[in-house]
Amino acid sequence: MMTSFIALEGIDGSGKTTQAALLYEFFSSNGLNSILTQEPGGTPLGLSIAQFIKSNRGTTAFAESLLFNADRAEHVEQIIRPALVNGSHVICDRFVGSTLAYQGYGRGLPLEKLIDLCDEACQGLYPTINILLDVPVHTLDSRRGIGNRDAIEASGAPFLDRVRKGYLELARKSPRQWAIVDGSQSIREVSMEIQSLVRPYIYG
Ligand code: TMP
Repeated sequence: MMTSFIALEGIDGSGKTTQAALLYEFFSSNGLNSILTQEPGGTPLGLSIAQFIKSNRGTTAFAESLLFNADRAEHVEQIIRPALVNGSHVICDRFVGSTLAYQGYGRGLPLEKLIDLCDEACQGLYPTINILLDVPVHTLDSRRGIGNRDAIEASGAPFLDRVRKGYLELARKSPRQWAIVDGSQSIREVSMEIQSLVRPYIYG
């Protein structure tokens, strides 16, 4: 049986967490085994790292990339690879694309070094498809309260705009690994589009 590893990517507030849950429901209602997981936070180590990064504004960019990748190494080895081997589809809210977009394009670390670091962490296991939910940064404030923002989001609109453009560049450079969905459509429209994107990976 073919199993797929689907990563949902996008800036904070793009709706990716809602869509990851809807995609999980879609898999379940079609009788397909799947797990829904996330980075950071898919493992106990990841949960601690997520907590630390969200509450510490001063973390340097390089330290951040090491922490996210420590979580990733654990996550791939303990959760993602075993699930795929056991015949389960994997839906992951953020993966390597997040490090390239946030620590690379957002915080200015050299992309080539991050690619190598991520490659070590994920042991060469990459998503079948990365789905980018693209939304313009200026639409975000209307979607969620400013008080909700964590340390990374609090880096502000110019930062998120660099991250958004980074994502778009990554997706355009590798069209076979990435699909771009207009995340400013309704929740239902976005979810239908995601379902049609994943169908070929599920049913061949
Ligand atoms: P989230 O749980 O709301 O998606 O928040 C996770 C935050 O961590 C989000 O702002 C994106 C950021 N992040 C990175 O900067 N690099 C990474 O590699 C990952 C996985 C997340």
